[in-house]
Amino acid sequence: MTTANVIVDRSQGVAPVQRRIFGSFVEHLGRCVYTGLYEPGHPTADEHGFRGDVLALVRELGVSTIRYPGGNFVSGYRWEDGVGPLAKRPRRLDLAWHSLETNEFGLDEFARWCRLAGCEPMLAVNLGTRGVAEALDLLEYANHPGGTALSEQRVANGTAEPHDIRMWCLGNEMDGPWQVGHSSAAEYGALAARTASAMKMVDPTLELVACGSSGSGMPTFGEWERVVLEATYDHVDYISCHAYYQEHDGDLGSFLASSLDMEYFIETVVATADHVRHKLRKERPIAISFDEWNVWYQSRFEDSGKITEGWPVAPALLEDVYSVADAVVVGSLLITLLKHSDRVRSASLAQLVNVIGPIMTEPGGPAWRQATFFPFATTARLATGVVLMPRVETGTYATGRHGAAPLVDAVVTHDAETGSAAVFLVNRSLETTVVRIDVADLGVGGVREALTLADADPYATNTREQPDRVGLQPVTAVLTDGVVSVELPPVSWTALALA
Ligand code: AHR
Repeated sequence: MTTANVIVDRSQGVAPVQRRIFGSFVEHLGRCVYTGLYEPGHPTADEHGFRGDVLALVRELGVSTIRYPGGNFVSGYRWEDGVGPLAKRPRRLDLAWHSLETNEFGLDEFARWCRLAGCEPMLAVNLGTRGVAEALDLLEYANHPGGTALSEQRVANGTAEPHDIRMWCLGNEMDGPWQVGHSSAAEYGALAARTASAMKMVDPTLELVACGSSGSGMPTFGEWERVVLEATYDHVDYISCHAYYQEHDGDLGSFLASSLDMEYFIETVVATADHVRHKLRKERPIAISFDEWNVWYQSRFEDSGKITEGWPVAPALLEDVYSVADAVVVGSLLITLLKHSDRVRSASLAQLVNVIGPIMTEPGGPAWRQATFFPFATTARLATGVVLMPRVETGTYATGRHGAAPLVDAVVTHDAETGSAAVFLVNRSLETTVVRIDVADLGVGGVREALTLADADPYATNTREQPDRVGLQPVTAVLTDGVVSVELPPVSWTALALA
């Protein structure tokens, strides 16, 4: 048994909780769209072909924004293929995933689906095979009220009101050699600047995201952000970060400490963005859109998951089955995102359904929650008000990948309006850890909810056959004299709601 102390101080406010950090991502990849959220003929499907069971789970997940339509897919995508009468939509080769895109589902379907799910749509434009003109066309189609060729086309296609999409990504992972249209930072920066300045001529209130690095391990990391931001600073609001983590070679300790890489990633990008800001003598800071993050067993995909022959429609790709340990890492990555709410203003769990998703479906069959569903849904539900940075007194352990890692990590949110608070904790230890949380400064009177995600087998998962094998369990948390005492199980993620 180990021990840790968490001390909460209301003067240590970071920033308001940014609802957009509870975003997700829908890409035309594998079965995310087709047989994921869209499956005409499914017993729960509505008249648009949207699966009702998936919509209900997405609402329960508490997703704020959804990035669409990619990902690598967007770099070869022609948005016009996905609008208008279904019978006239062309079938195309998708080079990113070696698949065949039927275009049955496109922008108007996505926007309609988002309204039903209660999510804000966020679009990416293709800067891989396309440029300024096509981005402007898409913007006119999506957002202009009417009276122009493309806005009237949208009206004729059945959507009278503009979609009013606020956040736009200027391409996707253009630093990655795998990307269709992969470019140097200077080439991409020039194209992104031209595209962004033209889009802002249409609407200066748009929020635009320049592509940052596809991971902190990219050889161009740091220099890429500097060059891109020097070219685009006046026209963009965010720079993106993407990060995926997995357990390598049975090294659970390093895997559980993955958030240390996310922290390094965020802090390095903030330092680079601020360097450019001062160099260019600008007032306005650039925010981070962490618009792809998750656990992804990418090595399995690289080794044997890729399609090299044939062009299948909606093949099963990237269908990782998540364990309790994976979910603990997802919960700890959310703690890190919250701790950086002053600069991380938007984030997208990649992805939403079937493709490295918290929700799985069977075609014609049920939908169920993966282990990673629980920390996401609970954090999105309980984190309100302002993020507070607590002082965490804990031991550390040595990791092969991240140096010394704290055994316990925590973040607090406090809602002055309702007088409620939430504490989110991760225990990376293989032992139970007794934590004393000094919340005297919050003036709360009791523990309303105390939930933990843990299992005697940290590799336990939910499956089609056992959809409820893992989930949240109540944990005993007692508040006495301003101190909450709680026992965190080994390898666990825990949430406490206080009021
Ligand atoms: O989310 C899966 C893929 O990961 C996305 O298409 C791409 O942007 C990233 O490399």
